[in-house]
Amino acid sequence: MRTTTSLLPAFRPQVQERLYDFYEELRAGDELFWDRHLSAWIATGHAVVSSATGNPGLSSVRYPDLDAVSEELRPLAEVLSRQMLYNDAPDHPRLRGLISRAFSPRAVETLRARISDAVDEIIAQAAPTGRMDIVADLARPLPMTIISDLLDVPEKDRPALTAWSEPVAEAIGNSRLDADRNREASQSMADMLAYFRELLTSSQTPAAPDTLRALVAAQAENPDQDLDELLANCALLLIAGHETTTHFIGNATLALLQHAETADQLRKRPDLIPAAVEELLRYDAPVQLMLRRARHDLDLAGRSIAEGQTVLLVCGAANRDPAVFPDPHVLDFERPGGRHMAFGHGPHFCLGAALARLEGTVVLEALLTRLPDLRLDGTEPPKWQRSLNFRGLTRLDVAFTPPSDDDSGTRVVSTGGSVDATSQAGECPYRPEPGGA
Ligand code: HEM
Repeated sequence: MRTTTSLLPAFRPQVQERLYDFYEELRAGDELFWDRHLSAWIATGHAVVSSATGNPGLSSVRYPDLDAVSEELRPLAEVLSRQMLYNDAPDHPRLRGLISRAFSPRAVETLRARISDAVDEIIAQAAPTGRMDIVADLARPLPMTIISDLLDVPEKDRPALTAWSEPVAEAIGNSRLDADRNREASQSMADMLAYFRELLTSSQTPAAPDTLRALVAAQAENPDQDLDELLANCALLLIAGHETTTHFIGNATLALLQHAETADQLRKRPDLIPAAVEELLRYDAPVQLMLRRARHDLDLAGRSIAEGQTVLLVCGAANRDPAVFPDPHVLDFERPGGRHMAFGHGPHFCLGAALARLEGTVVLEALLTRLPDLRLDGTEPPKWQRSLNFRGLTRLDVAFTPPSDDDSGTRVVSTGGSVDATSQAGECPYRPEPGGA
């Protein structure tokens, strides 16, 4: 019998430390149940989560009534409401179409050398000390560097973007912030949009050709295009493009360090790196929840969902569903089949999946090659940040033998080659399944 009847405790740091046991308790009863503490349906089973993402009766509109949102949060909610993530058809495909070209696997593959250089530079900086906080030194700066490069944001402005992005991500991941934090998140979003407006429309430095900024700037000149809408989606790219990937790098490194034999296997079998990236995403997903709201009364997995009710799709739990992933708590790079939900599914499937996969691949290759004796350092167990939505570490201290200069040119390279430049955006290139996203 299910003893745990609410997802809410997952917010507590103690529960974050045993999150996947907690999900098992939650799933032990119904895979879809009403949580009276959160006033929402909670879906933990893979089949329910997967089918719900494609159910047209479930809307992604997050704030159906902006007037009902608190005064401090409303300015932020107004911007989020213009982002593709929080829209349904017909606006959703229109917004996605504006920028999806820049994120196809083929376009993203051209960034490989840039990502490699950025990782090498970070490792070189940390090398003499033989110590690193993976979160602060690698996982935070790398994705911000890459998404800023794509948006052609000058180096000097990047610290400001990072500072604005953090309160916004915190507010998105946590519906229980106090009024001051919500006000700060709204103000940060306003500052970010003002910055992008200047960058796109009146910047002294023209966009480099073929960058995402050039694509967006061209649309900004179109009188039929709503500029505020474009700016809101630039902010989405910046926040979604770095917050999640940061957590992926941190969570994946921790999982590897906790499974030394499995990490050794990768050193010997670099051809497994693409599969390892997918397995690490399944094993400890940076995004744990997707939110949907019923447009009308509907049936989902045999339960009656009433119009307006919220459904929380717990992709982190779906990724450990034994019905799809036998021995789900084992990290297994040769796991057969099974589509993980870390990037979601259906029409909102992560637009940046190819980029995130490429960043993960390059980081794994570099850590395995350049720092072969990488190990956890420190007496404290790794700490998880407080968020129901994003799962990530606040710091991850590691130690290693500083690489010699001779190592700088060598690198384990996954013989999977590119992050599948031939597959369509939205497909998992390593485990294609018929009829997938
Ligand atoms: C490991 C890293 C990442 C993870 C785990 C992740 C996860 C997700 C998930 C679960 C969704 C679907 C949300 C839903 O259906 O409600 C999503 C959507 C999205 N992601 Fe990612 N993401 C990652 C990296 C990125 C990157 C690098 C970018 C962009 C540069 C990005 C941009 C987006 C966008 C724009 C959407 C909205 C797509 C739409 O609504 O059509 N993500 N992501």
